[in-house]
Amino acid sequence: MKPAGIIGTGSYVPDSIMTNACLVETVPTSDEWIVSRTGIKARHIAGQDVATSDMAAIAAQRSLENAGVKAADLDMIIVATYTPDTLLPSTAAFVQHKIAASRAVALDLGAGCAGFVCALATGAQFIMTGMYRNVMVIGADACSRFLDWTDRNTCVLFGDGAGAVVLAPVFEGRGILASHLGSDGSGAGLLGIPAGGSRMPASEYTVQNKLHCIRMNGKEVFKFAVKIIPESVEAALNRCHLRTNDIDLLIPHQANLRIIQAAMETLALPPERVLINLEHYGNTSAASIPIALDEAFRSRRVGNGDVVALVGFGAGLTWGTVILRK
Ligand code: UT7
Repeated sequence: MKPAGIIGTGSYVPDSIMTNACLVETVPTSDEWIVSRTGIKARHIAGQDVATSDMAAIAAQRSLENAGVKAADLDMIIVATYTPDTLLPSTAAFVQHKIAASRAVALDLGAGCAGFVCALATGAQFIMTGMYRNVMVIGADACSRFLDWTDRNTCVLFGDGAGAVVLAPVFEGRGILASHLGSDGSGAGLLGIPAGGSRMPASEYTVQNKLHCIRMNGKEVFKFAVKIIPESVEAALNRCHLRTNDIDLLIPHQANLRIIQAAMETLALPPERVLINLEHYGNTSAASIPIALDEAFRSRRVGNGDVVALVGFGAGLTWGTVILRK
């Protein structure tokens, strides 16, 4: 097996910022509630004419420039998203055309907020087996398009954005060292968008009842997240014979500051070894980890040889960890 590693990163968030103060004008909530319960202070919201693939394509271009790879040399593009431009074709197909990656097979992967880590582990397999040389993995979500702005349980939490990485063969001992992925479909009802699929196609009823918007049992998802993050990180570390102490930077899915703090405590990781940026972006779903990863790589918070653990969790329920050495 050839080791696969990240050779370039890129990200994009829309310019328009919605602070908690903006939300308070239309939603029965408060800055105090949102900050104390979630840690979120602001989120970026895509303009009406911007779809998921538009944000993904910008992040993709930035990751290609960072990697020094031409779009024409990409063999594969995987877009992790729950907010596709259209149900058919895939968002990846739009991205492929926008960035002119004519040789690349383009497809989407659906695993909610765990989508990026699942897509990263999937894309890496094609390099490890020698089938492909350059694989782009994108996490992108326009969450704002699927929010019920009258539901304070959800609308204060999410934001829009995209992050991308280029995977390629790297030296032995570098790149992705191990991954651990899992699902528990018995929790499928805890987080999702009820209508718009084959179970409940769009109708006047579904639109009137806001069934195309995200619904979440926050408390149950919270409990699941607090339990699964340490379990998944430990399982992935075991696979590459490392220990929590070897992690130089943990990049968790940015859903809730309290979830991250609980995981840090269980894993006994000090704050300087955990990246938290959700106060600026909210929960950008599949984009949260690659946006944070881009920030960590570009700011040189991660140095050559450092061990990074990426851990995602969300709808499905689905979760995953990828351990890599830069
Ligand atoms: O990325 C996918 C994975 N998603 C997550 O990981 C999210 C996991 N869940 C969470 O982050 C938290 O459960 C939430 C932030 C969603 C909610 O926090 P909580 O501490 O679990 O609050 P809660 O749902 O138990 O609600 C507590 C109270 C309720 O009022 P009552 O019934 O006690 O009177 C809610 O109605 O807070 C109320 N509430 C709000 N109040 C002001 C709920 N949302 C709001 C709000 N502003 N935005």
